[in-house]
Amino acid sequence: MTLLSEVEHQKVDQRDDDAFYDAPRFVTHADDAFLDRLTALYDEHTAPGDRVFDAMGSWVSHLPDTSFERVIGHGLNETELAENDRYDEWFCQNLNETQELPLADDSVDVVCCALSVQYLQFPAAVFEEFARVLDEGGHLIVSFSNRMFPTKAVHAWRQASMDERSELVAAYARAGDLSVVDRIAESGAGDPFFAVVARAT
Ligand SMILES: C[S@@+](CC[C@H](N)C(=O)[O-])C[C@H]1O[C@@H](n2cnc3c(N)ncnc32)[C@H](O)[C@@H]1O
Repeated sequence: MTLLSEVEHQKVDQRDDDAFYDAPRFVTHADDAFLDRLTALYDEHTAPGDRVFDAMGSWVSHLPDTSFERVIGHGLNETELAENDRYDEWFCQNLNETQELPLADDSVDVVCCALSVQYLQFPAAVFEEFARVLDEGGHLIVSFSNRMFPTKAVHAWRQASMDERSELVAAYARAGDLSVVDRIAESGAGDPFFAVVARAT
C-alpha cells in the first residue's frame, strides 16, 4: 500500500540518510518533561519479561527500569547504538531503502518508535513490518513532537499541523492493520507530547 504521494514523501535533502546520520549525536531530541512522559507511557504498555524492539533508536531509549527479556535496537548510527546500554542486540538498516526487518513474525511484544516517524518515506511498508513482528496483543508506541531535522522530514509532515501529524501516524498504523487504541496530545510550556498507541490483533 502507498500512503504518501510522490510529492508527500520528498525530503529537501535528498542525499542518502546514512550520510546524514554518519556522525554520532550524543544529544536528546526533546526536553526532559517530554522524555519523562514517554518513559511513563512505555511503563503503562510494557511488563517485565517483554521482548522490546526500539526502531529508529539512538544511544538512549527512554525505557522504564523494567527487566525485559530482551531489547533489540535499530538505527542508522553504529556508534550511537553501541553506546545504548538497554540494547541486548542491535542492527543498522536504512528504512527508506529496505523496509523488511530481520526479525521473525510475532517475535516482540512492544515496538517503540520515538521522535523519528517523520523521516519515513514509505511508512505503510514499515508499519506493516511493525505489525508482522508484533505478537498478538502487542503494542506499537510512536511518539513525536514539533522538533525535527527539517531537511530530512518528509513533505507531508512538514506542512501538517500537530493534529494532522497525529492523524497521519494513526493512518500509518491502520495501513499496517494495527488497531489504534490511544492518541495523546499534550501541550504545555515545553515540547508538546504526542503519541499514537496501536495494538496488533
Ligand atoms: C531524532 S533521532 C531519534 C532517536 C531516538 N529514537 C531517540 O529518541 O533519541 C532520529 C533517528 O531516526 C533514525 N533514522 C532516521 N532516518 C532513518 C532511516 N532512513 N532509516 C532508519 N532509521 C532512520 C536515526 O537512527 C536517528 O537516530
